[in-house]
Amino acid sequence: MTPYYEHAGITIYHGDCRDVLADTVKSEDVVITDPPYDAQTHAGARTLGKEARASASTGKRRIVSSAVIEMGFDSLPTVDYTAELWRWATRWCVVFCSVEMLGAYRDVAGAAWVRGGFWRRSDGAPQITGDRPGQPGEGLAIMHRAGKKRWNRGGHHAFWECGVERDNRQHPTQKPERLMEILVSDFSDRGEIILDPFMGSGTTLAAAKRLGRLCIGVELEERYCEIAARRLGQEALPLSFGDDDLSAPGASSGRQEQEKDDDKNDDKTVAR
Ligand SMILES: C[S@@+](CC[C@H](N)C(=O)[O-])C[C@H]1O[C@@H](n2cnc3c(N)ncnc32)[C@H](O)[C@@H]1O
Repeated sequence: MTPYYEHAGITIYHGDCRDVLADTVKSEDVVITDPPYDAQTHAGARTLGKEARASASTGKRRIVSSAVIEMGFDSLPTVDYTAELWRWATRWCVVFCSVEMLGAYRDVAGAAWVRGGFWRRSDGAPQITGDRPGQPGEGLAIMHRAGKKRWNRGGHHAFWECGVERDNRQHPTQKPERLMEILVSDFSDRGEIILDPFMGSGTTLAAAKRLGRLCIGVELEERYCEIAARRLGQEALPLSFGDDDLSAPGASSGRQEQEKDDDKNDDKTVAR
């Protein structure tokens, strides 16, 4: 299959990942991906969208039924496919999901299951209705192909804390670049190949490129392929080796901050 985008160790395919992986991709080192969640989570995001948008526009707690968040892609009917994505890795497979879905991932992954992890959205939206606990964050189904395990965070818990990035969002469920950089750094080494079969706007790929990894992304919607290709075209190549220890919370190199500033200032580059 011809790639939609290919440059500097980053490859993007436009298509259904089930076809693209079967036809074109062999097992890569590490899978890090953020597929659609279950129908209940998608429905919940829409309900919250009604309330949150009304609050933002009026400054008061008023529910306006016309304001609805549209995810722009279908929910996942089952985890049967995504909980088997470890088959496309020689090492780690890390898959975002709702906390409620973690048990289903464990059941399908079987012996490949390692642990359920958690991303706490430190500045996530509060529960506007105030009548129940708010959504604290998202789950991470952590799997590994049979064999010796090794990661880059020693005895650290499977817990990551990171704020939501609200600027320059190009996808309705875009993950924070900072979070993806930490996951890429924790679960892979420089020069390894990361596969993201549900890449959306390409946040995993951007983090991988910045940290000197190679990366393959697949996306069903062409508009997100285009956004990702443009984004990747703006990413600078890593400048030097040995500077990707992101293990300290809040650690971020000056170069990364500079790249983020450069991104904000340069929105006219077309990569394709
Ligand atoms: C949760 S979003 C990923 C967002 C991404 N993490 C980001 O930061 O932009 C999931 C993406 O998977 C895509 N998708 C859904 N089904 C797919 C499939 N069968 N093959 C490839 N991509 C798919 C959707 O179009 C959506 O963009």
